[in-house]
Amino acid sequence: MALDPGLRRGDGDNEYSRPMVMNRALSFQVFRHNPRDPADAPRTQEYSLDETPGMTLFIALTRIREEQDPSLNFDFVCRAGVCGSCAMVINSRPGLACRTLTAGLPESIHLFPLPGFELIGDLSVNTGKWMRAMSERLRAWLHFEAEPDVDALEAPMPPELAEQVYELDRCTECGCCVAGCGTAQMRADFVGAVGMNKIARFRLDPRDVRGDADFYEVVGDDSGVFGCMSLLGCHDLCPKRLPLQTQIAYLRRSMARQGLW
Ligand code: SF4
Ligand code: SF4
Ligand code: FES
Repeated sequence: MALDPGLRRGDGDNEYSRPMVMNRALSFQVFRHNPRDPADAPRTQEYSLDETPGMTLFIALTRIREEQDPSLNFDFVCRAGVCGSCAMVINSRPGLACRTLTAGLPESIHLFPLPGFELIGDLSVNTGKWMRAMSERLRAWLHFEAEPDVDALEAPMPPELAEQVYELDRCTECGCCVAGCGTAQMRADFVGAVGMNKIARFRLDPRDVRGDADFYEVVGDDSGVFGCMSLLGCHDLCPKRLPLQTQIAYLRRSMARQGLW
């Protein structure tokens, strides 16, 4: 049976090493908490579901909500690994629920919200609020010399360079790299791999007039590249397989050079 290459059969093991097991009775331990209700204590709730062929965690959670518990909160938009909104902790590892097949997971599945983000309820967190604050702090948008002329012809960019910019632009702001990052869990102002990837993206873009001295102002301290412990959990967890290891190392070297001057 052909497997969509974007789908993961499970966390931490060889994606193709396990035989597809059908008709298992799955047990879901799901984190439940409404932070707006002081009387609602954080807890886990168990749900049971029979596995079906090709079942993803998106399908499983939707069935649980439709058939067993309409009060369960979780986020999905695209169901195709594009929007990043379904990230959660799946058996101790951040990942996208819509791209995770239950076939690669054991019968007992534990689901928790991403740590490091404001909890909306149950499995739903406000990654958007965190990402917006980080982007504003890093001024993560193109800085032009003068107001762009919308009537002017577009300036061409070498295709190889455009490809490199596009590669880093594929970040969906899912938050998996932040949830799996020791530094981000210890200090709220750390910009995370997602933030460093943004700076790497604008450093590459020839339309952006900022230089390394400007980028040093926003990531040249412990809340940026020098707070990163380089253990690369972010690189291992990124569902878009962005080259975070290379980008963080390159950015750190450039910022270290700035710091010496
Ligand atoms: S860098 Fe990867 S893990 Fe981090 S937010 Fe972007 S897509 Fe998600
Ligand atoms: S390498 Fe840096 S950004 Fe990535 S998980 Fe480790 S501390 Fe966080
Ligand atoms: S629902 Fe969009 S990435 Fe999963």
